[in-house]
Amino acid sequence: PTPDLWRRVDAYLTDTLVGHDPVLEAAVADQRSAGLPSIEVAPVNGKLLHLLARISGARRVLEIGTLGAYSTIWMARGIPDDGRVVTIEAEARNAALARVNLERAGVGEKVEILVGRAADMLPQLEGGAPFDLVFIDADKESNTVYLDWAARLGRPGTVVIVDNIGRGGAVADPATENPQVIGTQRGLEMLGRDPRFDATALQTLDLKGYDGVALAVVV
Ligand code: DHB
Ligand code: MG
Repeated sequence: PTPDLWRRVDAYLTDTLVGHDPVLEAAVADQRSAGLPSIEVAPVNGKLLHLLARISGARRVLEIGTLGAYSTIWMARGIPDDGRVVTIEAEARNAALARVNLERAGVGEKVEILVGRAADMLPQLEGGAPFDLVFIDADKESNTVYLDWAARLGRPGTVVIVDNIGRGGAVADPATENPQVIGTQRGLEMLGRDPRFDATALQTLDLKGYDGVALAVVV
């Protein structure tokens, strides 16, 4: 398919199944105005995260990589009122924008933003109640570190989702020298080999281009 075709199909699916939500669209618009990159998940994938939270009955969600909280809002809307999303963001400026977006979406009370490098923040979560769903969408170089924490902070049955596993097809290039692609490959290899996970992945074509998402369960 050409980009024109898959973008048209993505628009059709978004119109038909996801709809247009002013609060989510404002979050994206404000993110763009603030000069942040428009690398939030596509609406169809935000809805996928939301549905996975609901299907799994998640009450506690961990997100690594908040950006402007677009995916955070989707997941917060998929958990009960007394549920919690803990989301980790390295950039204080992004976290401030995310907070505004979360409050406007009416999910501020459900979401805790931890500001700092995820590798530094994750150990602080040890000893708490396990997370039911973990969404990994930060620096791809650290995906194996984040997957290790997902297993440690989860429980058998925890749903783990990794964004951007296709990277325009680059993931299948064994000779790639792109550190983000190499990090993605290492993460997928870990999901395939590490007995703590059972996993698969789907290629995606949407308005963000040709990419993919990995889905795993903690064994
Ligand atoms: C890009 C997209 C993402 O979803 C992400 O998490 C990081 C980077 C990108 O298109 O560059
Ligand atoms: Mg992403």
